[in-house]
Amino acid sequence: MIQAAVMGFGTIGSGVAEVLDINRDGIIQATGQEIGVKYILDLREFPDSPYGDRIIHDIEVILKDPEVQIVVETMGGVHPAFDFTKRCLEAGKHVVSSNKAVVDAKGTELLAIAREHHVNYLFEAAVGGGIPLIRPLTTSLKGETIQEISGILNGTTNYILTKMSREGQSFARALLTAQELGYAEKNPEADVEGHDTGRKIAILTALATGQEVKFEDLHVEGITHITAEDFLYAKKLGFSVKLVGTSHIEKGKACVYVCPVMVDADNPLYGVNDVYNGVVVDGKTVGKIMFYGSGAGKLPTANAVVSDLVDIAGHLTENAAFGWKEGKFPLKSFETEKFRYYIRISGDPTEDIDGVRAAFGSVKVIEVPELTGEFAVLTGEMEEERFQRVSPAVRGLISSIRVR
Ligand code: HSE
Repeated sequence: MIQAAVMGFGTIGSGVAEVLDINRDGIIQATGQEIGVKYILDLREFPDSPYGDRIIHDIEVILKDPEVQIVVETMGGVHPAFDFTKRCLEAGKHVVSSNKAVVDAKGTELLAIAREHHVNYLFEAAVGGGIPLIRPLTTSLKGETIQEISGILNGTTNYILTKMSREGQSFARALLTAQELGYAEKNPEADVEGHDTGRKIAILTALATGQEVKFEDLHVEGITHITAEDFLYAKKLGFSVKLVGTSHIEKGKACVYVCPVMVDADNPLYGVNDVYNGVVVDGKTVGKIMFYGSGAGKLPTANAVVSDLVDIAGHLTENAAFGWKEGKFPLKSFETEKFRYYIRISGDPTEDIDGVRAAFGSVKVIEVPELTGEFAVLTGEMEEERFQRVSPAVRGLISSIRVR
């Protein structure tokens, strides 16, 4: 039996113990042996859990036990998860993580420590929840030239936007429902401000380029300013609004950003609704591939963690080439990206359209019967820099959303 320890017995950590039980036979068939949970490190006691007898409160127990070969980190937050992970790797134990905050902030350092100690640091569950995404990207697509990754990477915001689209709800109302259902945290900032998506697209870009990409260097916008009115115009256009993380990689540089975008029905992300995630990877020779599935949730995410455990069980004595090197991948300014723009304007199109055309050139006018005293336009394609420069001069401009 391969003995593992789990650090953090919350939703995902307890899910890992469950998936190891549910899939016991399949795991034995795949690896030749059972993967058991010897210890569970948590501050709390779990007297009613079937795994309650394995709870410990001291990391030293795991570090000092030579039987524990793999440690699962499902603690969340950077500290003390980073410190514990580092110590486990230095003690010669493989670590599997679902913790994107640690992977984004400390991934470069932990991958280097893993290499140095001939163990593995894997984190399939950190991006896209249960969707097999990191492994296909780093194995099946190894050597392929990745030109673009664009994805709906956050289930909570996708749920909110779907609710707004289908039921005409305001952002605040849809957020409340998401909180009531347990999708959104009490403090929803990381999700609704795009930070969670930003960390995930940073990790995917680092894996695709083989060099470091940090969340703090990206252009990140959330969905708090999206309104029910925007969805009325979007429907008239046949569009939907999605929070998308994009990484556009060209000539040795990447433009990596997160922002809400309007997508048309031909875009594969258009049909990704509710808490689902969808990621489109565009490779130079393979073309566009789409990954779709549960981006969050106990058992799907735990399944991704267990897939890493099974992977490591196949090479317990070596570090398999994975991850990225030290040194930042060169990034291109967000202002160089080209979009069309949906712009909502207060006024009357017959009186105000000349000013709009003077700024943006030819535009399509959109009016919806439910909204009076305002209209919207759809511009042609232009660089973000031009849009930023000319839009302040447009009279009555209420808001805008980029269109892809
Ligand atoms: N808060 C995240 C989401 C959890 O809603 O997608 C999964 O990373």
